[in-house]
Amino acid sequence: MKIAIGCDHGGYELKKKILKYLDEHGYRYSDYGCSSSTESVDYPDIAFPIAEAVASGKYDRGILVCGTGIGVSICANRVRGVRCALCGDPVSAELTRKHNNSNVLALGGRIIGSEVAKEIVSKWLTTEFEGGRHERRLTKIANYTSGSYNSDVSSHGSSHSSGHHSIHSSSGMHGSRSGAHSHHSDSSSYSDSSK
Ligand code: RB5
Repeated sequence: MKIAIGCDHGGYELKKKILKYLDEHGYRYSDYGCSSSTESVDYPDIAFPIAEAVASGKYDRGILVCGTGIGVSICANRVRGVRCALCGDPVSAELTRKHNNSNVLALGGRIIGSEVAKEIVSKWLTTEFEGGRHERRLTKIANYTSGSYNSDVSSHGSSHSSGHHSIHSSSGMHGSRSGAHSHHSDSSSYSDSSK
């Protein structure tokens, strides 16, 4: 597995610890910088090249670290083909591999400690995608990006319902599929982890 890793100044200290972990466990990686916690670097200048390198297939995975992990994850998720997961715990790291097949991991260097970060990286690098029903959902994400998204949920934007999402018709979406069964994404689907 080939990994691209990078950080801004806010993520530099944590990145150093992760590099040590990768070395100790025999992972191959390229370090895209930066190389200081005191010289300010704009996180998009690190996040976009890594996200693009992963999307192009040059690397299998990317690891991005900034102060919160939020800035780099916003950038990475704007690159087509990238599914970036901001993780603050190993359970999320495991589940985002199993369910989202995330190919970029974002970490907050000013938020989590290095031991937790190493556990997150370990889970994230060693857990396989489960496929199955999750593949269908990833296809929907890819379709949204390419302007051919179709929803199975027929109640978008209905004003009388509470708690349901409204999806706006932008970027060439085709709207609800006619004849789709009326299934609402209520709490019952989230409480059952097998769905
Ligand atoms: C840099 O100060 C900080 O804004 C950055 O590391 C990151 O936290 C942004 O999301």
